[in-house]
Amino acid sequence: MKRIRVPLGKRGYSIEVEDGLIDKAGERIARVAPGGKVFLITDRNVARRYAARVERSLRKSGFHVCRAVLPAGETQKSLATMTRLWNSLARHGIDRSDMIVALGGGVVGDAAGFAAAGWQRGIDLIQVPTTVVAQVDSSVGGKTGINLEAGKNLVGAFHQPRLVLIDPLTLRTLPRREFCSGLGEVVKYGMIRDPRFFAWLEKNAGFIMNGEPETMARIAARCCRLKSEYVAADERDMTGRRAHLNYGHTFGHAVETATGYGTYLHGEAVALGMVAASRLSVDRGWMTDEERRRLLDLLKRFKLPLTGVEQTWQALVSLVSRDKKREGGRARIVLTRGIGTASLVTPVGRPLLRRGFQEICSPRR
Ligand code: NAD
Ligand code: GLY
Repeated sequence: MKRIRVPLGKRGYSIEVEDGLIDKAGERIARVAPGGKVFLITDRNVARRYAARVERSLRKSGFHVCRAVLPAGETQKSLATMTRLWNSLARHGIDRSDMIVALGGGVVGDAAGFAAAGWQRGIDLIQVPTTVVAQVDSSVGGKTGINLEAGKNLVGAFHQPRLVLIDPLTLRTLPRREFCSGLGEVVKYGMIRDPRFFAWLEKNAGFIMNGEPETMARIAARCCRLKSEYVAADERDMTGRRAHLNYGHTFGHAVETATGYGTYLHGEAVALGMVAASRLSVDRGWMTDEERRRLLDLLKRFKLPLTGVEQTWQALVSLVSRDKKREGGRARIVLTRGIGTASLVTPVGRPLLRRGFQEICSPRR
């Protein structure tokens, strides 16, 4: 078993990574939050594979369990879902001595996390992530929230979990495209912070694409350790440090919005964003052509898109400008210096954005 500690004082917590952990969820949760009721939130795809196993383990450890199953997909990060969940928590008499367990990908984690943050001003939350995105990123760090028509993640709260339980074996049932998409976020960590990890990904790309549990456990542990450092340094995303985790996201977010969520999965859009950002790094002399080639090769091996976005660069730039208005008028972008070091660059003008978007809107390679 691998254990990583997120050092946040009284709100600190452990991330445990172990094969078969979902069958031991009850005993592990009882160690940090004994007694009380568990309100399990999951989605249909995950429920039919894993909910009964988690519930069995919880009951064995003496928990009373109730369950809410959401339809799968990003549309569930909505106010309507929150109303439904909060009413259900009321019906089941869940109070501050009880807890919510989020079993699923980032959508379930973000929605269940926000339900926990809001219910009676905050009840305990346990994250049991089952996608690559959730196991390497979204289950750690306490960002929870939902979407509005006006944009993604516009309403939310910081609400750290009490415990994160990662079972790499759950990735075996993840659809192939979702699996590869999650690897986009994995590559991101190598690019912004860890050149040795990047080289290890290059060396082990074959094992990774086979989803070898030992390899995936190692990836989850490394990414969670790196993420925990950013979270400990800048928990509420105020100083610019945690913003490095958004490498590839300024360009990627615009691509997701312009093409309608669903054309590109999140990690695919992040991969395109890294392709765009790395072009700007090369232009500045911050990165060599060879380093950029290594990034593109690795993304390609993980079956991630490098270009071919069917949008005009003008449309994409105007989406960044819209976000910029929301963020106080200064577009920010994360660029790497070589592989393994990142800098936040601001302000970012139209010519830079144009250069980046032109790179990924060009015809397929
Ligand atoms: P997701 O939660 O939609 O899961 C992807 C699909 O896989 C869904 O259809 C789901 O039902 C299915 N699934 C999940 N686990 C499975 C398994 N083990 N076997 C079979 N099917 C499974 O998507 P995601 O990529 O995990 O998360 C994306 C969301 O995460 C976005 O809303 C994004 O905003 C959010 N996110 C949040 C943070 C954060 O810090 N809070 C960070 C990154 C992303
Ligand atoms: N996924 C970005 C963050 O947690 O800050």
